[in-house]
Amino acid sequence: MEIAVIHCIILGVISGLTKGAGVLPDSPLNAAVGETVMFNTTVTPPENPFILMTWKFGDKNIIIFNGNNFTSPEYEGKITLFMSTGSLELRNLALNDTGEYSVSIVSLGELPMDGSTRLNVNVPFSNVMATASSTDMVEFNSSVRLFCSSSGSSLSFLWLNGSSEVTASDRVQLTDGGSTLTIVNVSRYDQGPFRCCVSNPVSNGTSDPITLSISYGPEDINLTISLSQEYYGKGLMNIQMSQSGNYSCQAFNNKTLRYETSQPAAVSVLERISGAFVTPTTNLTIEGISVNLTCDAAGSVFTRKWMKDGSDLTLAGNMNLYDKNKVLSFNSLKTTDSGEYSCNTSNPLSNDEAKYSLVVIYGPENVQITGPSEIHVGQSFTLNCSADSTPSATYTWILNGTEIHNSAEFTKNNTDLSDSGSYTCQAMNSITERTSTAVHGLSVTDRRSGGLSAGAIAGIVISCLVIASAGGAVGGHYVYKNKINNKAPPPSDNKEKEEPVYENTSAVYENL
Ligand SMILES: *[C@@H]1O[C@H](CO)[C@@H](O)[C@H](O)[C@H]1NC(C)=O
Ligand SMILES: *[C@@H]1O[C@H](CO)[C@@H](O)[C@H](O)[C@H]1NC(C)=O
Ligand SMILES: *[C@@H]1O[C@H](CO)[C@@H](O)[C@H](O)[C@H]1NC(C)=O
Ligand SMILES: *[C@@H]1O[C@H](CO)[C@@H](O)[C@H](O)[C@H]1NC(C)=O
Ligand SMILES: *[C@@H]1O[C@H](CO)[C@@H](O)[C@H](O)[C@H]1NC(C)=O
Ligand SMILES: *[C@@H]1O[C@H](CO)[C@@H](O)[C@H](O)[C@H]1NC(C)=O
Ligand SMILES: *[C@@H]1O[C@H](CO)[C@@H](O)[C@H](O)[C@H]1NC(C)=O
Ligand SMILES: *[C@@H]1O[C@H](CO)[C@@H](O)[C@H](O)[C@H]1NC(C)=O
Ligand SMILES: *[C@@H]1O[C@H](CO)[C@@H](O)[C@H](O)[C@H]1NC(C)=O
Ligand SMILES: *[C@@H]1O[C@H](CO)[C@@H](O)[C@H](O)[C@H]1NC(C)=O
Ligand SMILES: *[C@@H]1O[C@H](CO)[C@@H](O)[C@H](O)[C@H]1NC(C)=O
Ligand SMILES: *[C@@H]1O[C@H](CO)[C@@H](O)[C@H](O)[C@H]1NC(C)=O
Repeated sequence: MEIAVIHCIILGVISGLTKGAGVLPDSPLNAAVGETVMFNTTVTPPENPFILMTWKFGDKNIIIFNGNNFTSPEYEGKITLFMSTGSLELRNLALNDTGEYSVSIVSLGELPMDGSTRLNVNVPFSNVMATASSTDMVEFNSSVRLFCSSSGSSLSFLWLNGSSEVTASDRVQLTDGGSTLTIVNVSRYDQGPFRCCVSNPVSNGTSDPITLSISYGPEDINLTISLSQEYYGKGLMNIQMSQSGNYSCQAFNNKTLRYETSQPAAVSVLERISGAFVTPTTNLTIEGISVNLTCDAAGSVFTRKWMKDGSDLTLAGNMNLYDKNKVLSFNSLKTTDSGEYSCNTSNPLSNDEAKYSLVVIYGPENVQITGPSEIHVGQSFTLNCSADSTPSATYTWILNGTEIHNSAEFTKNNTDLSDSGSYTCQAMNSITERTSTAVHGLSVTDRRSGGLSAGAIAGIVISCLVIASAGGAVGGHYVYKNKINNKAPPPSDNKEKEEPVYENTSAVYENL
């Protein structure tokens, strides 16, 4: 409003510059219809009165004073001449009073003084009003025309957009003396408010504002996901794996009839991992065979990591990983492969670990007997048998083809000569079904007679180790036949005192 007024004032000052001269003002006088205007001269009242004063409108006389007043009839009652300055008052102005006024004044003994100026008589504006061809528009798709109407004379128009004056451009046209504003392809920023400012030298005013409604968009559409995260657990807010995917949304404006689609947003639903397990292809993890450990779990398994005995697994030459670490494969088990294997299955939401204790089954090997080789009658002796074996071997002591004891340690009290002999220890692995034996010679001597020297007897220890073929233990079935076992057991009450005889024991494996 204030700024609007300022614009209007500027407009008023700019209009209608005309030259004035002499004793009358340079700038034209402006007055409204019906008003009174005063043509003041710059003359100071002289010592002697004026002898001649003439006022003209164009080339028509208004009044002549030469001692008497001669007023033109149409100015009777409409003017007053001021005798001291020569100024003229013109009352009840009409539009046809607009024009050039001139004066000539003569005083005694002085040069005549002349002057001229212009009077503009204006009808003040009234009823200023702005109207729009439409106020409901679609951005880039509509043009609008704003009209300003007002009554009054010599009216100038300008338009205000908010507080700024509208200036013409390629899409803004000002026509009909500025009273019509055309905006081609309106933008959302053209909503205004637009006001028309009308002015003439005697009045100015602004119209009520017009605000345009300009529909636009949709644009800048954003899809945001509440609880945004990279992965979602299945079941969280009841979401399912099948709901994974790229989501986008489309907005529609039913005014502009335009659509816009958002950037896609990825939703990844995962199932939490549970029930991790490691299973071997066989429980008979016998040395030399091939076995695969399979690691799996329920849920969305992203990664699997193997460890052995609490440390990261280093793949030995007989190991391989297949199927993205799902299968840990041993192509020929070694005893050193025994240990606790753990497999950690994970995805970004969860993980689970499973353990498997791999015990490599082997043996028996390296059967050894410890104990004395020579004792005297009446003494006690203990023989200990050991063997490398997993699981631990079971031991059978055999003397002269007869099973005499069923554990690793064999003790005999109060010996006599008949206890001499070849003591055979047979170690057996219940899973590999292999046996292995060692023989220990023991000489029981009478205290009085010398018998064989201890060294000689120790040298006669013979051990025999028979190993079944490696492949047979997995697929085939073996029956162990021992010649000694086939012999009829000797009578238990045999008390004959004979010199010990050491013979080779032998075993035969038959593959059935
Ligand atoms: C003319 O002079 C009178 C009296 O001095 C003054 O009131 C009036 O405003 C003057 N008019 C103009 C247009 O200068
Ligand atoms: C001429 O008219 C003016 C007023 O317009 C008046 O003051 C003056 O006395 C008149 N002079 C004579 C001689 O009538
Ligand atoms: C202006 O017009 C009126 C009639 O409308 C007339 O009486 C008057 O004489 C005119 N004045 C001049 C200066 O022409
Ligand atoms: C109206 O003013 C705004 C800034 O306020 C401008 O972006 C827009 O182009 C103007 N519109 C016209 C028709 O002048
Ligand atoms: C414009 O109007 C204001 C009052 O609304 C007035 O003070 C000002 O003088 C006017 N300007 C012109 C040039 O008529
Ligand atoms: C969409 O996002 C952009 C960039 O962050 C932003 O500038 C714009 O205002 C947003 N749109 C909405 C409708 O929130
Ligand atoms: C257009 O959308 C607006 C806002 O959603 C709604 O109020 C109006 O009913 C819709 N008009 C039509 C014709 O669908
Ligand atoms: C936009 O203008 C085109 C061509 O003038 C017209 O076919 C279309 O209906 C207009 N769209 C709207 C939303 O007014
Ligand atoms: C290994 O032993 C477990 C437990 O006794 C059994 O559930 C599984 O089926 C066995 N696996 C094989 C391959 O025989
Ligand atoms: C172990 O897995 C590998 C790779 O899948 C396969 O080639 C091999 O035959 C499997 N071995 C056993 C003993 O199942
Ligand atoms: C041998 O004697 C010891 C103690 O003298 C006794 O504890 C042990 O049971 C006896 N062993 C046998 C097989 O008689
Ligand atoms: C074992 O056999 C040998 C010779 O065949 C014999 O001398 C010895 O007494 C026997 N020992 C036992 C305990 O039968």
